[in-house]
Amino acid sequence: MSSPDERNGDVRINPSILAADFVNMQADLARIAGADFVHVDVMDNHFVPNLTFGPQMVSRIQATSPVPLDVHLMIDEPERWAPEYAELGAASVTFHLEASTEPVSLARRLRAIGARAGVAVKPGTAVESLVDVLDEFDQILVMTVEPGFGGQSFMPETMPKLRFLADEARRRGSSVWLQVDGGIGESTIAQAAEAGADTFVAGSAVFGAVDPGAAIVALRASAGQHHRHA
Ligand code: DX5
Ligand code: ZN
Repeated sequence: MSSPDERNGDVRINPSILAADFVNMQADLARIAGADFVHVDVMDNHFVPNLTFGPQMVSRIQATSPVPLDVHLMIDEPERWAPEYAELGAASVTFHLEASTEPVSLARRLRAIGARAGVAVKPGTAVESLVDVLDEFDQILVMTVEPGFGGQSFMPETMPKLRFLADEARRRGSSVWLQVDGGIGESTIAQAAEAGADTFVAGSAVFGAVDPGAAIVALRASAGQHHRHA
């Protein structure tokens, strides 16, 4: 497996900079130094109806961030674009299964460059095809909102899929991380942890807090308390 940069044991809290102030990025990154990774949402206005930034911006975030980068690519043609994010130094690069033509070979390319390889699924996408290739990935991201925007409501109907993946991972002795993203906050993190998530993206719940550092500590405590251990 690629280097995990694991700092905090069982659960990881990855604030999403989609909820940060884009013109005060350096200051906002400094506020989340207690996080495990910074979650970086790349959107291309094709795969999702929203646009953020590309490798040039991510490279500057990489140079500035106090914590490793967890890049979430909501883009078409990940085979064409994803390796560049691994090459610029992102610790983890996650692409969408729906957009990928060769998910396993892309994951192998990302790992060969030295990144953790992640695959993401939208709320309506089935995950059965992933269970036989779990070890090809370091992380599976189960979206808990439709990708594209921060501040949406958590979709509890995605929890059975997460539970299924957690069961399969345990049964197969896999160490793949199970990530959730969208609507994660004080009131929802417990149910995602209980269903088997161990890696939590939170945008508004961290950057919308008066004290983002304290929000990270509180989310971590709640996730750790509810996480269903193997
Ligand atoms: C949504 C993004 C998320 C988003 C989460 O498509 O992938 O990472 O920033 O934001 P919150 O935590 O506010 O739902
Ligand atoms: Zn995301």
